[in-house]
Order: sequence, then structure tokens, then C-alpha cells
Amino acid sequence: MLGCLAPHPPHVVYAENPEQNEAFAEGGWETLRWGYHRLARKLKSIEYDAMVVFTPHWQTYIGTHFLGLPRFKSKSVDPVFPNLFRFNYDITVDVDLSEAMCESASEAGIVTQMMRNPDFRVDYGTITSCHMLNPDWDKPIVTISSNRNAHYYSAEVMNEQAGALGGACARAIEASGKRVVLVSSHSLSHRHFVTESPLPEDMSREHIYNHSQYVWDMKLVDLMRGGRMREVIDIMPEFTEQTIAETEAGGLTWMMAAMDHPDYPAEIYGYQSVIGTGNLLAAWDPKEASREIVL
Ligand SMILES: [Fe+2]
Repeated sequence: MLGCLAPHPPHVVYAENPEQNEAFAEGGWETLRWGYHRLARKLKSIEYDAMVVFTPHWQTYIGTHFLGLPRFKSKSVDPVFPNLFRFNYDITVDVDLSEAMCESASEAGIVTQMMRNPDFRVDYGTITSCHMLNPDWDKPIVTISSNRNAHYYSAEVMNEQAGALGGACARAIEASGKRVVLVSSHSLSHRHFVTESPLPEDMSREHIYNHSQYVWDMKLVDLMRGGRMREVIDIMPEFTEQTIAETEAGGLTWMMAAMDHPDYPAEIYGYQSVIGTGNLLAAWDPKEASREIVL
């Protein structure tokens, strides 16, 4: 299992101008996009069977849900940025793996459900992260919903439940014998501007929302570089509250638990602000021979 922290601002897909997206951009957010290109090249060089994505934009309030049909095809429109993201997707799902993870989570006492509605619209977080990591879309995916424990209880409860889900998913993946790329789809600090510049890709307008967000994000990057993922997860509730981070959905906690909290350095591929949010692209490669210091 290789893990990727893969932020999903629709702006990066917009800036790429793929044929699936209806909007047109003159570019933008190159630091993040070039990092994505490099990580995508690495993923091309390794063999794997499926991508398993945890997304904050498929929110479920009763249990954790898993994509449960072999194909989903529709148009995804970002509710906040319909001017940037109207993406025609055609997604293949590894249903066997999805069912195995659902069952394993259920055995661990987690409320679960398979999503079998053919009209279900896959969220833009899944689409953005998967498109940037694998623009050829030649691997099946599984998306896991985020149960919003943080809303009902607290960030501490979220951390524990997402960790339990990660462990259950890892047991199912190991039992399947499949090689999987895990994707935690979200940014770090998430305070953002509430107005958009006339030209969204005008990079003269782009910067972090405030300095304390930047300091928090860099603190996490330092811990990741140092292979201190247990510590990162331990401070996740405080980080999430201070920066209203998308980690509130549990993605990073889920992925780190599935990977047994790596004590080796993360590969850092890039960090850039998008509408003021802190977007870090990082990967955890358990194989020392192919792990590298990227930045
Ligand atoms: Fe998001």
C-alpha cells in the first residue's frame, strides 16, 4: 500500500484543461499541478490494482458508505465553482474490493452500507484527486464516504472512528492480495477567501489566507518529513479546530491507520494556496528502494 495526500481544489483540474472539463483556463497553480504530474509519473512506474479514495465531499450521517456498482458515468458540477468544474466522468469501480472493505468495517462494529444507486453522482473531491493522480483513468477506484462524527461529537471521536475504519480497510486489502494506492483527498488549512478574482487563474491574487494557517501547515510538513505520523494524528483534533481543516472528515487519520502510522519520511511533492487554503501534496512509499526526497 502506497498512500497519497491529494488535495482536490477543482481549480487544478480547471487549469489543466482536460477534455472532460467544459471550462477553459489560461493555466494557474503550477506549483501544485507540476507536483501532481511528478507523483502521477511515479504511480505510472509502480504496479497496483486499484485506488481507494476517502473523500470529505461525500458526506454521510448514518454510517460509512462504499461505491458498489462497476461503473458510474455522469457530469460532476462543483456546487461552489460551477464556472470552473463541469466534468464528464466515466469511472470504473473495483466492487469486489469495495465489498470486502465494507464487510471488514462492519465486522469491526462500524455502521456501513454499499452505494448501489446507478444515478449516484460521484463527488468532485474523488474526481479531482483521481484525475490529477491518474489522468488516464486506467485503474479502477473505490470511494469511501466520510461519516461526519466530528459534527455529532468532536474531532477526537472522529479521529478514533476514522482510525478504526482505516484498520478495517487495511485488513480487507491485505486479505484480497491486491496492491492498492490509498488516497486521502483534502487540503490542510482551509480558511479561504469569499470572493473570487475576475479571472480565477490570476496568480497575482493567490496567497495563504493568513500566516497562522501557514505556520500550522508547515508544522505538519516538518513532522511528515521526519516520519512522525503518529504525532501528526495525535495533534489532528487541535490542528483541525485551529485551521478548520478538511482533516475534519477523517481522511488522513483513516489513511495513516491503514498504513500503520509510517515512521519513515513522507515524500513532499508540493504546497500551494488555492483561494487561500493550504494544499499539500505528499506520498508515503513503504518501499525504501523507491522512496525519494522529492522536495
Ligand atoms: Fe474540499
